[in-house]
Amino acid sequence: MFVRRIAVVGAGYVGLTTAACMASLGHRVVCADLDEDKIGRLQAGEIDIREPGLAGLVAEGVAAGRLSFVVGATGALDELAADAKPVEVIFLCLPTPMGVGGVADLEAIEAVLEELREKLPSGCVLVNKSTVPVGTAERATELLMRSDIPVVSNPEFLREGCAVRDFLNPDRVVVGSDVSDAAERVAALYARLGAPTVLTDAASAEMVKYAANCFLAMKLSYVNAIAELCERLNADIVDVTEGIGYDRRIGQAFLSPGPGWGGSCLPKDTQALLQVADAVDFEFRLLRATIDTNIRQYQRMVDKVREAVTGKRTGSLRWKRLAVLGLTFKAGTDDLRGSPALAVVAQLRQAGAELIAYDPALPADTRINTPGVVLVDDPYLVAKDVDAIVILTEWADFRSLDWPHLATIVRRPVIIDTRNLLDPDVVRRAGFYWVGVGRTLNR
Ligand code: UGA
Repeated sequence: MFVRRIAVVGAGYVGLTTAACMASLGHRVVCADLDEDKIGRLQAGEIDIREPGLAGLVAEGVAAGRLSFVVGATGALDELAADAKPVEVIFLCLPTPMGVGGVADLEAIEAVLEELREKLPSGCVLVNKSTVPVGTAERATELLMRSDIPVVSNPEFLREGCAVRDFLNPDRVVVGSDVSDAAERVAALYARLGAPTVLTDAASAEMVKYAANCFLAMKLSYVNAIAELCERLNADIVDVTEGIGYDRRIGQAFLSPGPGWGGSCLPKDTQALLQVADAVDFEFRLLRATIDTNIRQYQRMVDKVREAVTGKRTGSLRWKRLAVLGLTFKAGTDDLRGSPALAVVAQLRQAGAELIAYDPALPADTRINTPGVVLVDDPYLVAKDVDAIVILTEWADFRSLDWPHLATIVRRPVIIDTRNLLDPDVVRRAGFYWVGVGRTLNR
């Protein structure tokens, strides 16, 4: 195997995972970030991203002399050059937040290209891992003004909460470039993983990322819509998704209904592709409906709570006290960005409910942007004297709470389980009235 000399620019969740995993594959990696405090913490061995296995891999890489951290992209090139041989591959793992009108904001990428343009050694490869609009590699090539440096698109498909596992066991590796051999050189970095590899042009690689995330969002909106139909037709979504999931063309994964999909990626990427389509006069109705169905899902969860608590679809939640279990956008992360739970919580507040919340990943002093939500760090404290318990994130720990005890401290034993997390029989035996999503009432 060839040991490559790699600079990773950006020590966020994608950058740090890429750096640590590339080092674990034997490459020499310097990871850079503009945030001096973050680099200081990383140099001191402190990892502030909650990601299983990541801290161990970072420590191993550092101990083996294969991984180090520096401030600034130029710093990474200098550190590698100090070993006498220059950088060979530069991964850009930079934020591309939702900019004006939902268009991806490429400011961070442009700034780094400007910084590195004259410093990159001839023959190195510039690889973009950030999610960027189709055409960005071409634009980067223009901005770089260096015909001796190919730009490659190598999107990542990591999920928060299992980033290391996803990186080291990928379903596929996608690498695209318009310069011959460049994509092959980057694909070779992953050779040891033995994953199916798609070699293509830059625009197609960029498109793969959006097409994948938007497809996943569409799958979830579809499942949430089918769950609503199940409720109206007295069918059960758990059996329905199992039944369709055995069809290998559909698959069992990503079929759980919930309060809506969220996070830092799917909402941003669905909006961005919609804008990209709009810019080329393509009315992407399917994607628009995917997003609208999701926004409607939050309201639907509020209506569920309303009905369960007051017995009426139009009943008032004013002064009703609700316990919220789970605020992060999914279980296994402490990330609140784009959390459907927060969207539902904001609407419950607007409807006049009093909210007290617990999330196993969030200390009680975590800042929640919805005013009036009290966060506590004890799941039993949260349920005291409430009119209902609303489960919004699928933390497995909630299953093993002492439900018979909880039934004795609530004011009214009602659970609205927007993740179908609990076993209805268990909580019903404990004395609760339980409502899920897309479940028949007699199950
Ligand atoms: C997503 C993609 O799954 C990754 O492949 C991609 O690399 C990443 O975005 C990215 O672009 O960086 P992530 O944001 O970590 O990963 O979250 P997911 O695990 O995909 O979950 C997204 C949302 O869908 C969450 O709100 C989750 O609760 C919801 N979800 C997921 C469901 O409601 N039901 C399911 O069956 C699965």
